[in-house]
Amino acid sequence: MNKNLPATQFETACIHAGQEPDPTTGAVMTPIYQTSTYHQRGVGKHKGYEYSRTGNPTRTALEANLAALEQGQYGYAFASGMAAIDTILRLLSPGDHVVAGNDVYGGTYRLFEQVLHRSGIDFTYVDSSDLQQVKTNLLPNTRLIWLETPSNPLLQISDIAAIAKIAHNQPQSILVVVDNTFATPYLQQPLVLGADLVVHSTTKYLAGHSDVVGGAIVGRDEIFGQRLAFLQNAVGAVPGPMDCYLTLRGIKTLAVRMDRHSENAMRVSNFLAYHPKVKQVYYPFQTGHSGAELARQQMRSGGGMVSFTLKDGAEEAIRVAESTRLFSLAESLGGVESLIEVPAAMTHASTVSSPLAITPDLIRLSVGIENVEDLLADLAQALE
Ligand SMILES: Cc1ncc(COP(=O)(O)O)c(C=O)c1O
Repeated sequence: MNKNLPATQFETACIHAGQEPDPTTGAVMTPIYQTSTYHQRGVGKHKGYEYSRTGNPTRTALEANLAALEQGQYGYAFASGMAAIDTILRLLSPGDHVVAGNDVYGGTYRLFEQVLHRSGIDFTYVDSSDLQQVKTNLLPNTRLIWLETPSNPLLQISDIAAIAKIAHNQPQSILVVVDNTFATPYLQQPLVLGADLVVHSTTKYLAGHSDVVGGAIVGRDEIFGQRLAFLQNAVGAVPGPMDCYLTLRGIKTLAVRMDRHSENAMRVSNFLAYHPKVKQVYYPFQTGHSGAELARQQMRSGGGMVSFTLKDGAEEAIRVAESTRLFSLAESLGGVESLIEVPAAMTHASTVSSPLAITPDLIRLSVGIENVEDLLADLAQALE
């Protein structure tokens, strides 16, 4: 963090936190330190960097920036969101148990069930928007509660503060981890609400331009911080300096982008809610959404993700997803451009035939920051 920086508001921290003029040249933008290793003037006598898996100045700037935005003590950057999630789960041991939300990104479910379960970690999936379900599924060996809020793709809202209270009141110490990818720290700050760790796919809104894959963990507790730093280096799923630079560059405009994403998504959600062909709309700030009241307490605005189903079912959902012209048919989310997809066949294919399966008639939109009238016209013509 720039030591000379005065206390700042979020938008200012997006642009400045972690970034000082380069000490050798004065470059205002953090350089891409494209090096794997660093000269030592004597054995063990170096300037804080030995090898780029362990540390790289471009990555250091990104990590300090992410820590500041989430109000954490430390941040660690990873090669992908999945690498960050995997690293958090490596805090656990065989025989440990995790309670996880039952509407999570398909890749998270795949990692839990097809990789980590084989290493002796057990998972129970609950509707984490229901506090009673979270509470009654805690076991003596539960070590971690995994939340996505808003969740992917049904935009369910879980009460972070209440769940943190439940977890921290158990005799064993239960960690609360929030995947904050959909909200970003601009809309919601889980650590402030009591969570222990925040994880991101920085691929999405943080980087914001669909041109880089990355992940991050931010936390406060020093003991976990040291273990996560050890794991980051020991496992080595780190991002390269160019990727760190792109992510830093994207974050500079996070606040303005998120305002526009939310504004556009709210308009899209209202449009869909009154469309005769639409069965149900899922958007956290939409009147009638089961978590709307909590979302308005916990989040600054509703974010850019909207899901919906059609009265005419799955075949029609595929037809609509293949008929938009501005909304590009693609996986991923959070870029400036609008995307459309059918989760059951695309991002959440790994949950098919599982208790987490998504119905095939669901369409998910990542609403971009284009002119909203153009987006509404595109959806209108696709629904015709
Ligand atoms: C909520 C959420 N978490 C994690 C991930 C995984 O991130 P990545 O694709 O960067 O590995 C995704 C990817 O879509 C996601 O949507």
